[in-house]
Amino acid sequence: MATKGNPGDNRTRGSVSMLIVASLCCFFYLLGAWQRSGSGKGDSIALEITKKAEDCSVLPNLEFESHHGETGEFDGTKFEVKEFKPCDADYIDYTPCQDQMRAMTFPRENMNYRERHCPSEKEKLHCLIPAPKGYVTPFRWPKSRDFVPYANAPHKSLTVEKAVQNWVQYEGNVFRFPGGGTQFPQGADAYIEQLASVIPINDGTVRTALDTGCGVASWGAYLFKKNVIAMSFAPRDSHEAQVQFALERGVPAVIGVLGTIKLPYPSRAFDMAHCSRCLIPWGGNDGMYMMEVDRVLRPGGYWILSGPPINWRINYQAWQRPKEELEGEQKTIEDIAKLLCWEKIHEKDEIAIWRKSINIEECNDRESRITMCESTYANDVWYKKMEACVTPYTESKSSGKVAGGDLKPFPERLNTVPPRIAGGYISGVSVESFQEDSKLWQKHVKVYKRINNILDSGRYRNIMDMNAGLGSFAASIESPKLWVMNVMPTIAERDTLGVIYERGLIGIYHDWCEAFSTYPRTYDLIHASNLFTLYKNKCNAEDILIEMDRILRPEGAVILRDHAEILNKVNITVTGMRWKTKMIDHEDGPLVPEKILLAVKQYWVTGENNSTSTRGVKTGGPAKPASAHPSRPGTAGRPVNRVGRSRAGKAEPRAGP
Ligand SMILES: *[C@@H]1O[C@H](CO)[C@@H](O)[C@H](O)[C@H]1NC(C)=O
Ligand SMILES: *[C@@H]1O[C@H](CO)[C@@H](O)[C@H](O)[C@H]1NC(C)=O
Ligand SMILES: *[C@@H]1O[C@H](CO)[C@@H](O)[C@H](O)[C@H]1NC(C)=O
Repeated sequence: MATKGNPGDNRTRGSVSMLIVASLCCFFYLLGAWQRSGSGKGDSIALEITKKAEDCSVLPNLEFESHHGETGEFDGTKFEVKEFKPCDADYIDYTPCQDQMRAMTFPRENMNYRERHCPSEKEKLHCLIPAPKGYVTPFRWPKSRDFVPYANAPHKSLTVEKAVQNWVQYEGNVFRFPGGGTQFPQGADAYIEQLASVIPINDGTVRTALDTGCGVASWGAYLFKKNVIAMSFAPRDSHEAQVQFALERGVPAVIGVLGTIKLPYPSRAFDMAHCSRCLIPWGGNDGMYMMEVDRVLRPGGYWILSGPPINWRINYQAWQRPKEELEGEQKTIEDIAKLLCWEKIHEKDEIAIWRKSINIEECNDRESRITMCESTYANDVWYKKMEACVTPYTESKSSGKVAGGDLKPFPERLNTVPPRIAGGYISGVSVESFQEDSKLWQKHVKVYKRINNILDSGRYRNIMDMNAGLGSFAASIESPKLWVMNVMPTIAERDTLGVIYERGLIGIYHDWCEAFSTYPRTYDLIHASNLFTLYKNKCNAEDILIEMDRILRPEGAVILRDHAEILNKVNITVTGMRWKTKMIDHEDGPLVPEKILLAVKQYWVTGENNSTSTRGVKTGGPAKPASAHPSRPGTAGRPVNRVGRSRAGKAEPRAGP
């Protein structure tokens, strides 16, 4: 694109480049102010950003049309900024696809009611989810592992319900997590050491883990010490906000359940899977749940089951369960494991560990004993019914080799060509294009770090990449201070989530036309490359932006990379959502149609301001959801896990006349 010998061109480029430099410094400065304050409390910082932002003119004269021959349909000044109102204070912890009221209209059988059930188009809210009064930026890792500000998740019930089990304690204005779990009274560290005596988690061999029914995710939290990254999930149920606590602690987690549909992860992804008293009926439904774990486990992967029914001989009385029932349960599990060709490699006290065989050789007769899945494409899992069938192994190149290919230990694994690419399983991605992609993202991330110099300071711990591609953004930004949730849109041209896991990163399938399976305010930084281009004509960009606002923390940052025309529209929408934005050119110069939009969500909490206008043009009354919420008939019969919220709402009434 760079043309030599055209003086006119050079002049244009020169002057625009100067503007870029100026704008880079400007944003840099804003974030600097942020860093200095570093107190964890937001208001003053947001104020600072708002004030300074007025002085910054970023690329004011950039005319995209003339550079790129756009249709000219866009004219930045023509669009009206539409103000988005805050939702009612009752919606502080709103999770659109895991709404308690809607859940109750679905069958309880197989936990169906705890699975994703999203609002229909006309039930969608068009308001912004407010933060609770007194909300503060979480503590930095590793302090966040042990302390969560009470104001951020004011639910005390877990401290009472799980008091004996030492999950979480309430101390003044913080929750303290002593690192206990139902199954690890000696603490998570001791428990993990016990596992490490059997499973190679000390040397990078095992890197990715799945924690099913994770509680407050202490297992995942303490695995970070071993440089192991765990994807934890738990349903949104009567134990208030387990997953919210996990994310407040800075530990990857999503709302999820083993129910009737497949898990939103690719096949042969995880190096180990774990269940400690997770209450999943492993022996039920003809072994369907164990078969689903088998699908997502890599060949040679480990399955850890601790708690009932393991060690029933000693514990049946403590568990208040009949001996015979527990014995039967364990026998069923052992039988299914055998059918799956999992080898039991350990049982001591309440911990049992199996290992999935590395290839078909050790279990070539299983097809005669067990139903094999017919699906030709094992990763087609989004809203797909789970079945009691076994996912076949991929071929191994030669005898004795791991099916699908061997992985290097982490962190070497991060930038080694993943076997799925080396083996030609991903059409359209060659070894060369993978390496180019890695290099390109190293370059992009370098620029990101320059325009946001606190990117890897620890200020942003929970990071989401909404359109992760090959995971190269996450690979380039990798650091013990942060983790990235790599999202693979279900409509992506290529499904490369398996590649992401092969690099030792974690991710999940998701359709961005719907809400993500997480609580509000759970990500510190959201990155999205070409997401709005991908979803153009698929669903409303405004809905995607409202969802981003929901999951982003106050004062969280957003980096969007997309076509200039699209980003301009996005900018106008988010200006009505109290985001402060900056537009920045592609590092290769202003002639590249791809631009970068940087945004910071301002700090605001419920009841403080009625209007979301950042310009203070207008203030309206408190916004009710745009349409009545049919599944929410008044406040009567509010289920248990809403109580915290309504209480908070009552204790802190809105400022009224
Ligand atoms: C974003 O949109 C607002 C409202 O139209 C405008 O004032 C602002 O200059 C735009 N910012 C950028 C970076 O384009
Ligand atoms: C909320 O209102 C106060 C005073 O009315 C104002 O100073 C503050 O900037 C507003 N906050 C936001 C985020 O608009
Ligand atoms: C919020 O709205 C109420 C009326 O709905 C109004 O009386 C009050 O002044 C508003 N508060 C602010 C801070 O704008």
